[in-house]
Amino acid sequence: MAEIIIKSEQEAAEMAARTIVDAIKANPEFVLGVATGSTPIKVYAEIAKLVKAENVDVSKVKAFALDEYVGISKDHPESYYQVIKVNVTDQIGLRPENVNTPSPDIKTVATAGADYEAKIKAAGGVDLQILGIGRDGHVGFNEPGSSLASSTRIKTLTQETLEDNARFFDSIDDVPKHCITQGIGTILRAKHLLLLAFGESKAEAIAGALEGAVTSSLPGSAVQLHPHVTAIVDPAAGSKLKNLEYYKWVYENKPSWDAI
Ligand code: GLP
Repeated sequence: MAEIIIKSEQEAAEMAARTIVDAIKANPEFVLGVATGSTPIKVYAEIAKLVKAENVDVSKVKAFALDEYVGISKDHPESYYQVIKVNVTDQIGLRPENVNTPSPDIKTVATAGADYEAKIKAAGGVDLQILGIGRDGHVGFNEPGSSLASSTRIKTLTQETLEDNARFFDSIDDVPKHCITQGIGTILRAKHLLLLAFGESKAEAIAGALEGAVTSSLPGSAVQLHPHVTAIVDPAAGSKLKNLEYYKWVYENKPSWDAI
């Protein structure tokens, strides 16, 4: 079962950053899986703070993003290449050549998924994958119906996701309808999954993902198939969890030697 921890967004960011920075200290060639969206933004800021304060060598750290829009250029401020560049690469001080986003280039679209999978494999796989979750339960851009064994490929966004992501664009018509995303199978190959969710709008998706049936209709539920999942959610996002009191009790009684 996933370890489910209830924390405020800021506490969650600090806890996630501490875990990731300690792991980088133990393994300077750490491979970090990064997510876009608003959820992990504070985590990246906290990692950057710790890296600076503790003078951590991140020159060999590699990062792989979950997904990218297809249909806007890499230079567009809302391309995930740019979002990751600003929030992860530049802020934390990673070497740009060590940071990867799937290629949305239409000319190479047929092979882009396999190429990205090969790159992840060549890096030794993702050590820790940060995940947010969409209101419809999507992880990466794996919308409901995504195969639980899927690899990196092109997907079409749902209307709900287009509406949610319209806030980053001038209008909903500017949100690309297509994307290239790591598959659920790809995500499940990461060694540790760190699922974050904040706010009431995520409560249903979180309850479904962590306590509901494992189903492609709620792609986030695939985390139940993974042996090492840590979910850190705030009280609002955790409010629909049936066994909430039990998760709190487990965490309160967590032995000091047990890392997340
Ligand atoms: C986006 C991203 C996901 C992200 C999710 C939630 O569309 N592709 O990786 O987890 O939707 O976004 P937010 O964190 O802004 O709620």
